[in-house]
Amino acid sequence: MSKCRICQVEYVPFLSFGKMPLANGFLASDQFRNEYFFELVVAFCPSCCMVQLSEQPSRERMFTPHYAYFSSTSTSMATHFEKFSHQVIADYLPPHDPFVVEIGCNDGILLEQFAQVGIRHLGIEPSANVAQVAVNKGLRALQRYFDEDLAREIVAEYGQADAVLGANVLCHIPYLHSVVAGIKMLLKPGGVLVFEDPYLGDILDKTAYDQIYDEHAFYFSVTSVRYLFQRHGLEVVDVMPQNVHGGSMRYVVTHEGARKGSAAVMAHCEREKALGLEQPETFEGFRRRTERSREELMALLFKLKRLGKRVVGYGATSKSTTVINYCGITRDLVEFISDTTPIKQGKFSPGAHIPVRPYTEFTANYPDHALLFAWNHAREIIPKERGFQAAGGKWIVYVPKVQILI
Ligand code: SAM
Ligand code: TMP
Repeated sequence: MSKCRICQVEYVPFLSFGKMPLANGFLASDQFRNEYFFELVVAFCPSCCMVQLSEQPSRERMFTPHYAYFSSTSTSMATHFEKFSHQVIADYLPPHDPFVVEIGCNDGILLEQFAQVGIRHLGIEPSANVAQVAVNKGLRALQRYFDEDLAREIVAEYGQADAVLGANVLCHIPYLHSVVAGIKMLLKPGGVLVFEDPYLGDILDKTAYDQIYDEHAFYFSVTSVRYLFQRHGLEVVDVMPQNVHGGSMRYVVTHEGARKGSAAVMAHCEREKALGLEQPETFEGFRRRTERSREELMALLFKLKRLGKRVVGYGATSKSTTVINYCGITRDLVEFISDTTPIKQGKFSPGAHIPVRPYTEFTANYPDHALLFAWNHAREIIPKERGFQAAGGKWIVYVPKVQILI
């Protein structure tokens, strides 16, 4: 495939990470021999400006009954989603019997906010294990993939929705035209789609190359998102930067002309033009910065090893799979990765097979350095790890630049 998934124009590949495993493919040692790898290449469309993967593993490989990402592992994300629901309820829902559909509801971290105040809701979540957690919370959730066909079924059974929501999910779905056509069908004439995803402007600005991995089929900008929805007769009426997942953008979308648009939309498009988000050279610069970041991180890890320092990874994030395998980080350099998610503990990281251990092993014997793979949660993690710093421990970060925090 060398054509843009959105506008069919030939795209320009700008960065190849080589063979990569699944970002959430944490595995047991008896699975090493059959581990799946694919070519991770990211490309820019010079016509509609959509940044995208050239190849993505099948959805059945990624969103399995053993899916390792549980949204509720971060307390700051729970707070974020509580505020998200408050905004939707205050600004977009009608007072009488509103109906909300969430695409990719995972363990119900956002949907439960609506359920708690008695709002009619439906979650769509293909990964069986996380969907079951949502159902166990008493939420109504279907273990299905969202697309146009499912939207038709939902309208037939439940009627149209006042709000369709999605957090960190639309950018995961390669067949976006079917998803957007489904959303259009599902939305009432005055309904809104509110969704958020990691923002391309932040990825470039912070050289956050670790946002690039199998599940992220697209890297959205306001420009590319506007184009996509316009093709379906839908309109982006507002955009709001969000301080989560390393920098995200929330988009509000309606049927064309249904609501007055905010000036923020065009302001962001202008800013993106000024930042060069419409030019291939910008992405060449990103590739060079990514390569430099890799060299600097490896030089630092080798230096610490020579000095006999213990380095442990903090947070077995999906993003860490890209960093570890692209940079060539091995068990010699990072002893283990501490993570609070039970399903990841006792397993090994995808590709490099660094052990993932419970958080208690981190606190029981603090290392000299903690490599903060969960850098997007730094505001939550660093203050709560005063004990680590008090014991002389130091944080290593690599976004926006490789450094030891003092
Ligand atoms: N919304 C949650 C959040 O922000 O924490 C979960 C985000 S998680 C990174 C992406 C979720 O989207 C996964 O739970 C995955 O199973 C789900 N997903 C993937 N493809 C989907 C599809 N076609 N329809 C609905 N959900 C999908
Ligand atoms: P995320 O960056 O995709 O949200 O994943 C964060 C990962 O980091 C997840 O596996 C849980 C883990 N984690 C910890 O181990 N400790 C923490 O304090 C936080 C916030 C996350």
